[in-house]
Amino acid sequence: MPDNQNGRRNGKPETGAFFARDRAWHPPAFAPGYKTSVLRSPQKALLSLDGTISEITGPVFGHSMLGELDNDLIHNFASPGESAIGERIIVHGRVLDERGHPVHGVLVEFWQANAGGRYRHKKESYLAPLDPNFGGCGRTITDEEGRYWFRTVRPGAYPWPNGVNDWRPAHIHFSVFGHGFAQRLITQMYFEGDPMIWKCPIVGTVPDRRAIEQLIAALDWGNTVPMDARAYRFDIVLRGRRSTFFENRPEGN
Ligand SMILES: [Fe+2]
Repeated sequence: MPDNQNGRRNGKPETGAFFARDRAWHPPAFAPGYKTSVLRSPQKALLSLDGTISEITGPVFGHSMLGELDNDLIHNFASPGESAIGERIIVHGRVLDERGHPVHGVLVEFWQANAGGRYRHKKESYLAPLDPNFGGCGRTITDEEGRYWFRTVRPGAYPWPNGVNDWRPAHIHFSVFGHGFAQRLITQMYFEGDPMIWKCPIVGTVPDRRAIEQLIAALDWGNTVPMDARAYRFDIVLRGRRSTFFENRPEGN
């Protein structure tokens, strides 16, 4: 995600090796184990289209657009004096480019189910209860060192209609926004030590185990807040050999 559309960072041209995109990193668009991919996957050969002005220009994000509680999911939907129910956690990390440089000014958005595994969405049908004090989404902007952090409750696993008995492991959805509308990347974060990760049909479509492991946040004991919240660390690498796996890459070039 360069600072401008000419591939320059801080006024200097990018230098060093070019990291070609590794298409084997991504699952096939057609993956019958993930049922909805059967109808969703392209039936015809993909076409490459040139970028349009609306793709290479886009929003400018600043800290002034953020509300005080935007990165606190425990409180940003709660009634005054109340808070969301669940295991309190801090999620933090850095957004890095392919050379390990921090990427600042990136809008990071996140959304998740509540502690029981229930989303606040009109089409949600899981019987777990809504938490009246939990909305399930938030946002923040990376600082000069590419850092982001937010506070939330650990989401629950939930069943979904795919096979006979399929469950999503506990996960948090992430979106990172660059400097143009076409620079939006979406992925999911999982939790270290969760055995459900390896039973998930969606995770199972990712062909490379290392790609999956880069989506698993590590328990970060050093940043745990005693008597309050545990911490998990999740770094997001935009491209290159250590790139995070993004689920919306397969459709474009
Ligand atoms: Fe989800």
